[in-house]
Amino acid sequence: MKKYVLVGTGGRAEFFYGAIVRDFRETCNLVAFCDLNQTRMDYANRLLEERYHHPKINTYLHTDFEKMISVEKPDTVVVTTVDRTHHTYIIKALELGCDVITEKPMTVDAEKCQAIIDATKRTGKEVRVAFNYRYAPHNTKIRELIMNDVIGQVNSVNFEWALDTQHGADYFRRWHRDKRNSGGLLVHKSTHHFDLVNFWLGTTPETVYASGGLRFYGRENAESRGVTQFYQRAYGSDYAKDDHSRLIWKPMST
Ligand SMILES: NC(=O)c1ccc[n+]([C@@H]2O[C@H](COP(=O)([O-])OP(=O)(O)OC[C@H]3O[C@@H](n4cnc5c(N)ncnc54)[C@H](O)[C@@H]3O)[C@@H](O)[C@H]2O)c1
Repeated sequence: MKKYVLVGTGGRAEFFYGAIVRDFRETCNLVAFCDLNQTRMDYANRLLEERYHHPKINTYLHTDFEKMISVEKPDTVVVTTVDRTHHTYIIKALELGCDVITEKPMTVDAEKCQAIIDATKRTGKEVRVAFNYRYAPHNTKIRELIMNDVIGQVNSVNFEWALDTQHGADYFRRWHRDKRNSGGLLVHKSTHHFDLVNFWLGTTPETVYASGGLRFYGRENAESRGVTQFYQRAYGSDYAKDDHSRLIWKPMST
């Protein structure tokens, strides 16, 4: 049995711990959660019991991450915290002898990327970045067609990704709206898209550059469009009812 612990028990975490305890329970053992928020860990434990019929597991506050590794002795650490903190947990886990599976983006800037690459070389341990979007059937199909030479040699790719104001607004509400936390949308979101192109073509980039600007979201842009009413975000808020970018309650799937 391979032992797993997970750090960061927020919105994304269940995709990982749910799969471990449901689909891989014959070979994998989830042994502990870590977070700075005890309530979130308690909620994850409740889901383990109610949704997956799995016993509660040990919880550790973020300040006890190293203690968790030494007590639980996991083979693999799953990192699903906010982007800004990925490198800290990835590097610590590698140095404590674990492999790592991390949510995208691996980290938020080139310096931290290099520090992670250096740590894998130093420790001989492995980091896998979970680019789930590769496995959407249409994306896998595109790779299959290209790899099977159905369209012949690819000389150039023009990739454009437009977000509507529902999905797009989602990136300007929480911690990821602040570049310091997420590296900005070109890192936080487009990491999927850069990855897709490389996945389809079987390539690694030689040079990457990007430029962008905040043209729509943010208070100043809203004011210049004539918006005068601002409100505290909340589900079902009366103020929000005519706002195209409002938060829409989506129940979690079971
Ligand atoms: N693959 C995808 O399609 C996809 C989609 C959404 C989010 N993500 C990624 O998943 C990760 C988590 O996003 P989310 O939407 O679940 O966010 P979230 O805010 O719901 O959860 C983040 C969790 O990390 C915890 N946390 C924050 N700082 C911490 C620290 N220093 N130490 C320990 N725990 C800490 C928070 O308390 C929270 O429980 C991010 O890296 C994000 O980019 C991926």
